[in-house]
Amino acid sequence: MTPTHLGPAERLFGAEEVEAAIQRMAVAINSDLEPLTPHRPVLVLCVLNGAMVVTGQILPHLHFPLLLDSVQVSRYGAEIAGGALQWRMHPRENVRGAVVLLLDDILDEGVTLRALQDYCLQEGATAVHTAVMVRKQRPRSVDVLVDYVALDVPDRFVFGYGLDARGLGRNAPGIFALPEDA
Ligand code: IMP
Ligand code: MG
Repeated sequence: MTPTHLGPAERLFGAEEVEAAIQRMAVAINSDLEPLTPHRPVLVLCVLNGAMVVTGQILPHLHFPLLLDSVQVSRYGAEIAGGALQWRMHPRENVRGAVVLLLDDILDEGVTLRALQDYCLQEGATAVHTAVMVRKQRPRSVDVLVDYVALDVPDRFVFGYGLDARGLGRNAPGIFALPEDA
């Protein structure tokens, strides 16, 4: 256990490990998306607030022309099916005709990412690629395909590198898991 602002927590990955994994993810994204440009810049959509850190970390490692924009959504509960999201911020850049790269902090149930994928396609995106910093190892009822994953984590509540636990811990320098009995 490591002491953190949120009390003792298990450090799953240190900052260097997270950054190395994000860089490896950038290499994979580059090899897929670089050939698609320079016809048109890729539209990178950062899913606020959680993906802010991974977005800042990965951008300097992406080697193709891109436009950066953000979206912000929240969901009420696990029972809400894809599409039933509460929007706080829509993209300002044109999604129509764009190759989109959706960047999120975590794939949990997958509802959020699936709804955002559907939204981009409905808005006329040519293609939607999805990347997450961490993927929880758990069964998923939602049919969601993630193209790029930096790290896998156990099915526990995690925070750090943008991920929060009740609003706190986004600045934790690594990926930490709350104690199982928290
Ligand atoms: P999903 O729709 O179930 O995939 O939930 C995705 C959203 O829930 C993420 O974008 C996070 O904001 C939040 N979330 C899910 N699990 C965790 C966690 O372990 N730590 C922090 N946030 C989480
Ligand atoms: Mg989030």
